[in-house]
Amino acid sequence: MAVAHHNLGAIWRFWVETMKIPFLIGLTGIIGAVIAAQSGSADSLLEKHTKQLQTSTVLSAEFTVQNLPGGPADYKLKLAKPSKFRLETPDEVVVANGATIWTYKKSDNSYSQATQTEDDLKAFLKRDAVLPWAGFFAKEPFKNTTGQKVGTKHMVKGKAVEDVSLTLAGKPERTATFFVDQALGVARGVSLKDSADKSTIILAKELAISKDPAHDADFEFSIPDGAKKVDPNAKHAGVTYEKVATIFQTNCGGCHNAGRPKAGLDLTSYAATMAGGRSGKEIIVGDPDNSPLMAYLKAAGKPQMPPNGSLSQSDIDLIGSWIKDGAFEK
Ligand code: HEC
Repeated sequence: MAVAHHNLGAIWRFWVETMKIPFLIGLTGIIGAVIAAQSGSADSLLEKHTKQLQTSTVLSAEFTVQNLPGGPADYKLKLAKPSKFRLETPDEVVVANGATIWTYKKSDNSYSQATQTEDDLKAFLKRDAVLPWAGFFAKEPFKNTTGQKVGTKHMVKGKAVEDVSLTLAGKPERTATFFVDQALGVARGVSLKDSADKSTIILAKELAISKDPAHDADFEFSIPDGAKKVDPNAKHAGVTYEKVATIFQTNCGGCHNAGRPKAGLDLTSYAATMAGGRSGKEIIVGDPDNSPLMAYLKAAGKPQMPPNGSLSQSDIDLIGSWIKDGAFEK
């Protein structure tokens, strides 16, 4: 009896030992299959996205750009290989046909025309509005990114998408969540967030890629009625940024720099100075009296800047003149 019992136990143990391995293999297989069915890996989604863009000859997108809490603004983009692009925003139109680049500014109905260079395409690809589709031209659009991970699947504007989030290098560092269209394999847009929680959402209403030849007419610029031509390299009359940059650098740069800017305000570059700080734009072009920055310099209803003592009157006047003259970079 004891022997028989022992034998039963041994058979049981034998069964457990031999079945355990196939059982575990089976289980991992099932779990793996479930995970795979739920989502591709971030790398494979981004690879497919890039490959789809790089093997297309033309791309066209109609999308909105929304800087929260503001409302969405309409944009239109067309790209064609090897280096043609056209972007229409609420403020401007930029067109490049591979040989010539035109920039039209709606605010003063003026345009500039110049020979297109490689740098024009590079600068174009740095625009946030182009970020979701930069891989159409950029060889490695995700080279300076880290922490890729797959998020949820959901619908945007009636299309099934899967989220892939990653961190974009740069100052400030930003998190980008791409909405990858599951049918097309290409991002329909991106949501951008920086550490100060400034958010921008870019979302395509219409998005198409194809391997057809480009329509050259899409990349020609027709001069709008009455638009005046300006020289893009002309120096503006009056005080330019060069003169005030030194004042900012010496007296403000210690606290208002790109690293950890006080009140979110970086005064060490033209673009950052114009972008403003925590409370928004500090400079109202042409209007020093209503530019918050001037109120800080004069301690007029705002804390004194710099906090440990006022700038000289002549420096304050120079900054005021720069703003009045149009706050031009050059
Ligand atoms: C010693 C550090 C320091 C220096 C130097 C300094 N600031 Fe500031 N700045 C601050 C701090 C701190 C705040 C936030 C003040 C508050 O919230 O009361 C601030 C806020 C500001 C703001 C408001 C930003 C916003 O969006 O709310 C402006 C504009 C500003 N500074 C301009 C300047 C200018 C121009 C200079 C140089 C002429 C300067 N600051 C020099 C520390 C400094």
